[in-house]
Amino acid sequence: MDLVLIVLRLIHIVSGVLWVGGAFLVFRFVEPAIKDLGPQGEPFMSRVGPRLPPYFITVSGLTVLAGTALFWIDSGGDPIGWITRDATGLAFGIGGIAAWIAFLLGPIAFKPIFEEMEAAAAAMKSAGGPPTQEMVARMEAVQERLARVNVVDLVMLGIAVVTMAIARYL
Ligand code: HEM
Repeated sequence: MDLVLIVLRLIHIVSGVLWVGGAFLVFRFVEPAIKDLGPQGEPFMSRVGPRLPPYFITVSGLTVLAGTALFWIDSGGDPIGWITRDATGLAFGIGGIAAWIAFLLGPIAFKPIFEEMEAAAAAMKSAGGPPTQEMVARMEAVQERLARVNVVDLVMLGIAVVTMAIARYL
């Protein structure tokens, strides 16, 4: 029994499930509902919004770190050799890179988008009355950016899930 591998696999797969399942639920159902609700979505957003980044940073970080450790162990300390010589190694490598890209979208793309969203929402709130056309346009522009990054993120996570699922049997 290899306890290290068992623990790493448990961390990797459980956090991977929580990451991908959570991302799908948020992109597919939560964000569209908040968008449709407009200003009425604010009370929900102010409660749920701040809890999402720590959740996704934790589960995505655990997934990629445990996955990278597993990759290193499985390759016998020669990751490039495993990727170039073996279809299984190549598939885990492609999935691993896709998952790392999805992970890095957090600080590089999602963080500035959420900051801009908060600023746009705060400007609307502080205006008191109904939002001006400029305020609405600002919010719509950031929502469109978010929708585009969501698609890239889901494609990367999809590649990771499919390659991880089949790699062993190639
Ligand atoms: C969305 C992210 C990810 C998900 C959902 C995911 C999912 C999975 C699943 C379900 C397995 C079990 C496959 C099997 O035993 O046949 C697995 C294994 C593995 N994953 Fe990932 N993974 C992700 C990211 C990564 C990353 C970033 C790396 C490396 C950089 C990686 C490297 C590996 C390796 C090497 C294994 C084989 C572990 C072993 O049994 O020795 N994974 N992954």
